[in-house]
Amino acid sequence: MSNPNLNKEKQGLTTQDSEFENSIRPGHIKDFAGQGQLIENLVIFIRAAKMRGEALDHVLFHGPPGLGKTTLSRIVANELGVNIKETSGPVIEKPGDLAGLLTSLEPNDVLFIDEIHRLSTVVEEYLYAAMEDYRLDILLDSGPNARSIQLSLNPFTLIGATTRSGLLTAPLLSRFAIKSRLEYYNAETLQKIVLRAAGILDVKIAANAAMEIARRSRATPRIANGLLRRVRDFAQVLNDGIIDIGITQHALKALNVDEYGLDEMDNRILLAIIEKFKGGPVGLTTIATAVGEEPGTLEEVYEPFLIQEGFLQRTPRGREVTHKAYEHLGKKPGNRGTTNLELDL
Ligand SMILES: Nc1ncnc2c1ncn2[C@@H]1O[C@H](COP(=O)(O)OP(=O)(O)OP(=O)(O)O)[C@@H](O)[C@H]1O
Ligand SMILES: [Mg+2]
Repeated sequence: MSNPNLNKEKQGLTTQDSEFENSIRPGHIKDFAGQGQLIENLVIFIRAAKMRGEALDHVLFHGPPGLGKTTLSRIVANELGVNIKETSGPVIEKPGDLAGLLTSLEPNDVLFIDEIHRLSTVVEEYLYAAMEDYRLDILLDSGPNARSIQLSLNPFTLIGATTRSGLLTAPLLSRFAIKSRLEYYNAETLQKIVLRAAGILDVKIAANAAMEIARRSRATPRIANGLLRRVRDFAQVLNDGIIDIGITQHALKALNVDEYGLDEMDNRILLAIIEKFKGGPVGLTTIATAVGEEPGTLEEVYEPFLIQEGFLQRTPRGREVTHKAYEHLGKKPGNRGTTNLELDL
């Protein structure tokens, strides 16, 4: 995994989409929908830090792609009224890069490290003292001339984001006082997100059309906003720019969007378990090999949604598809009949 945009590419996003994403990204906590308890707690922590005039404790946002980790990190800095410097794990190659970033922060600023699970070991070790004591121990020279100098830093907040919290080391994890997992969104919340984005884009959309997009977005705001954009194209050409339920259903059909919002990999996983392993139970690593994906990515990025939506179960003997999965893929349990989905397995 060398491409920091891999997750977004997996979701079919291009650079142009990212610009669009930025244009509708909420900048204030009041515009950030859902994630109830997490947001309530954050509001308290932010207020308390501001009242004390201190840096907010370090925060880790983890969870599947497109649920709002980057958005929330920027919101936190905004609500704190401080600057945010953004970087990502693979970009900080040497301790010197980290020192450059940390020494450029003003008191109580936020340093945002995306894909924090991809930090190199040396850089991560330097980060420990920085996080704990706002201090950097820089080693000068090596061998008999080796000596270290200590740099003291302004107090700062590190906000880390990751889709793969399972890859973080224990010492790094323990240095985040606030660890928040972002959850998938329900359809009502996604409907609100779609309506808000439509308002910003200045398109007319019916409430039931927004709900239809919400239901078919893999419980993910990024996908909902992306679908809104595609449906808007159909509405513009075929329906005087108005997004009603009719044009929405037409567009989603033409775009081949799954009825439950499952993406290609979701369907491949279910189909592999049904066709190659008789519906399971089957081990995670075996499934991963069958679909050509890392076991950890399957476990942290794909499975949670499939389990939440009732397509997959975790049993002591492995993963098993449910009746709903058979039905969805047009298969019969115990029968390797044909499927109406054309999937390249
Ligand atoms: N709670 C929310 N309310 C409104 N819009 C949201 C919310 N969460 C996410 N979005 C929208 O979804 C898009 C994707 O969110 P974001 O980039 O923050 O996801 P992410 O968790 O950082 O994803 P990745 O893991 O791929 O980096 C944003 O452009 C934003 O507009
Ligand atoms: Mg992000």
